Amino acid sequence: MTTTVQKAAVRAVGTGHVRVEGRDKVTGAARYAGDIPFTELAYGWLVLSTVARGRIRDIASAPVLEMPGVLAVLDHRNAPRLKTDFVGMMGTRPDPTCAVFQGDTVPHLGWPVALVVAETPEQAREAAEALAVEYETLPHDIEFTGDHPDSRPADGRMPGVTDKGDLQAELTASAVVVDEEYTTPEEHHHPMEPHAATARWEDGRLEVVDSNQGTSWVVSELANLFSLDPASVRVRSEHVGGGFGSKGVRAHQVAAVMAATVLHRPVRVALTRPQMFALAGHRSPTIQRIRLGAYADGRLRALDHRSVSRTATVYEFVEASAGVARVMYDADAHHTENRVVRLDVPSPTFMRGPGEAPGSFALESALDELAEKCGIDPIELRLRNEPGRGPVSGLPFASRNLRACFEEGARRFGWAERDPRPGVRREGRWLLGTGTAAASFPAGAAPSTAAITAEPDGRFTVRISAADIGTGARTALTLVAADALDVPPEQVTVLIGDSEFGFAMIAGGSMGTRSWSMAVIAAARDLRERLVPGMAIPPEGITVRSDTTAQIAALARMERHSYGAQFAEVAVDPATGEVRVRRMLGMFAAGRIVNPLTARSQFTGGMIWGISMALHEEAVRDPAFGGPVGADLAGYHVATHADVPRIEADWVDDTDPDDPVGIKGIGEVGIVGAAAAIANAVWHATGIRHRRLPIRPDRVLTAAGTDA
Ligand code: MOS
Repeated sequence: MTTTVQKAAVRAVGTGHVRVEGRDKVTGAARYAGDIPFTELAYGWLVLSTVARGRIRDIASAPVLEMPGVLAVLDHRNAPRLKTDFVGMMGTRPDPTCAVFQGDTVPHLGWPVALVVAETPEQAREAAEALAVEYETLPHDIEFTGDHPDSRPADGRMPGVTDKGDLQAELTASAVVVDEEYTTPEEHHHPMEPHAATARWEDGRLEVVDSNQGTSWVVSELANLFSLDPASVRVRSEHVGGGFGSKGVRAHQVAAVMAATVLHRPVRVALTRPQMFALAGHRSPTIQRIRLGAYADGRLRALDHRSVSRTATVYEFVEASAGVARVMYDADAHHTENRVVRLDVPSPTFMRGPGEAPGSFALESALDELAEKCGIDPIELRLRNEPGRGPVSGLPFASRNLRACFEEGARRFGWAERDPRPGVRREGRWLLGTGTAAASFPAGAAPSTAAITAEPDGRFTVRISAADIGTGARTALTLVAADALDVPPEQVTVLIGDSEFGFAMIAGGSMGTRSWSMAVIAAARDLRERLVPGMAIPPEGITVRSDTTAQIAALARMERHSYGAQFAEVAVDPATGEVRVRRMLGMFAAGRIVNPLTARSQFTGGMIWGISMALHEEAVRDPAFGGPVGADLAGYHVATHADVPRIEADWVDDTDPDDPVGIKGIGEVGIVGAAAAIANAVWHATGIRHRRLPIRPDRVLTAAGTDA
């Protein structure tokens, strides 16, 4: 057969396409990790500690092993030993909460103490609930305060402290000063699809069918933990019902591999919704102090952003909220600091906009307070403080189109007609207000590999171990590949979520589509060079592989970020304290938008989470037992349909001519600044600042002094 490559009539990138797997998803044909059948499948059920700190004295396995269908009870006495002394692919050490059953110490409530495996999930659950675990209880400390004696600078993914200039001198000399504390609570990411993994050994190879944000990552962690050759580990993750940072390696995959190893049959471990509160990770609460000093015209002389977050005693994850100040605004004196307090709680982890989401609430609220004090419009204040270079890095910005976001956003939102005075607009029982905030999120890239096969029938198959966690990445890559191959998207099949396709970046850090696109475009370019019109394609096709390691290493060091301007209108009922968001607009500058249909959904999804963060989400830990009160989706409030008004998201041109793909991440920037825009609108409606999230009705009433 010869090539009959049909040329594409139009570019696919930039035109809206429904998800290529959309039909499969809505008809139920798409199978998620917990749905895929295996013969001889056994089911594991995790048993979590009921004490917040202590030691396991005894686990009464014997009676449980007599129960119907029970095959095994794994705990620290009989589980395989793991290697935990390594730094993994994402530059992190293994989290002991995930490297299960290696000792008798219990460092937090919900610590995995055993896995009960049985023939059916019901039998496993019944036996797990019957398993008697005896603890020696030790006193625990979960009370998070900014001045906790244990607080110390965080050595996370970024430096704990940055410092330039004489902060005190600049603050003293400032015409206007804002000095306030902002707090955000513990928050949880609960993707619709709970975490689930099935592990099995076949012909000396480990196969894990999983729901994760990156098969390469899970392979590397499991290979390290179990001292396996990575080539003998295969991880598949075809469809993923949400991740938001929570779907890396967690306890359930490790427990499933242990059980499959011991039992010599496939074992599935899925987390329940309540278990996810302990085992899926969460966003740490933050206590942030912001000090701004400005000239009378609003230009910053001093910027000080200090954040304290909470982490586990067994693992240091840092919610680096002060990081956003390092790239957003400059000042003559500039100080940022991330501190952590280690307490007896489960490990926090990445959660959509890690650092930026809570950090922007504090910083963008403080900017609004400064605008008020200076008597300057909040947009004008921000534009007067646009930096020419990275405030901390000193690097040039690749493209920084924040100004365009504000200008176009203000025009569409009707900002020009806004009366700046707070508390003066009434509509029946409602007080009305509008607010704005800026957003940014880094646009990074990491090495990936891809393969493209020219098939004998003229079609193309792309293989890349990307993850589509609901973002539309599979569809985006189909469009990118189609343009790179110069064929219509209908001629391209993109296969993802299989570690056999080679190393690839995870769906995380808003880096997935950008990183994978580089690999797909590189492979397509090489393949087109190989294909001569009229040449014969063998039955197995012609395959070309790419590896972007060198390309990524050669990228110029620059400040490269997505930006956005968030706008919100709220109505506040002063009698009940109820806050309703009436409308929102997000105007973004996020590089080349690959698929406008799914991109809009990404942006509005982040903004909706911003409503949720501003008004609803808050996990409250009971100091006595150490766990969250109401650890389910009834007790943990999230924004639902009734809370979400008309939301508009759009974007301005954001070209980056020096960049090989010009694509920036869009997964996280949508949540950044959204909560601040709402809080600023609540101030505009009522004249009262809310510096503590969420803005609950009781807090609105208390702040207004009308609390009965
Ligand atoms: Mo995202 S919080 O990097 O999955």
